[in-house]
Amino acid sequence: MVTFHISFERILPESKPDAVERLSEIAKFTFCDTFRHYEKSDIDAYLAKSLSVEALSREVAEPSNFFYFVNLDGATTGYLKWIFPSTVYLEHVDLKCERPLLLERFYFLPEYCGKGLAPVALQFVQSFAQHIAQADYLYLSVWEKNFRAQRFYQKWGFRTLGCFDYPVGDVIDQEFLYGKRLT
Ligand SMILES: CC(C)(COP(=O)(O)OP(=O)(O)OC[C@H]1O[C@@H](n2cnc3c(N)ncnc32)[C@H](O)[C@@H]1OP(=O)(O)O)[C@@H](O)C(=O)NCCC(=O)NCCS
Repeated sequence: MVTFHISFERILPESKPDAVERLSEIAKFTFCDTFRHYEKSDIDAYLAKSLSVEALSREVAEPSNFFYFVNLDGATTGYLKWIFPSTVYLEHVDLKCERPLLLERFYFLPEYCGKGLAPVALQFVQSFAQHIAQADYLYLSVWEKNFRAQRFYQKWGFRTLGCFDYPVGDVIDQEFLYGKRLT
């Protein structure tokens, strides 16, 4: 019999101790896989500052941060994080909204990209945003050269709101802000 069981596993301070270790592992792996153009020393600094077990434990403890693993038949395929409420990055755009939700991280392992999981996960985020948080806007930032992610978000109704510089070491990347009105 074919099974296809998707679950969203929230990572909380009271989750099993290995949950944040797993989160750190998948976050580091997917970050390195996505941002291969950075210098190794810059990547190492970012991983230690933002994706270490210590850093993520602090983030998980913040009530406005929502981390989830996306599991398929018991295997972790990716993870996501949203922040609600959030106004991070919105200083770069002229946007009228009252209750914005930021999808800050949305990462699948390469072998699970293009397998129909990302649309289900995006729907999960959007359902929470609309029906539980009563958010009126869903937004995110995406690297200018991440064409696959841009295509994905465009396919699901996001539009470009603006852009901003994102310096990492000697590299200055552009990030595009994408958004979608929910009400
Ligand atoms: C971004 C991500 C969540 C999208 O999920 P996914 O399962 O790959 O998405 P889909 O396959 O449904 O859609 C991707 C689209 O981009 C297209 N695509 C793939 N590679 C592309 C490329 N190099 N340039 C342009 N489009 C591309 C696909 O053909 C597809 O479009 P289509 O349905 O019109 O054919 C997933 O790829 C991912 O986790 N990537 C690594 C981490 C990442 O970049 N996260 C986003 C951070 S903002």
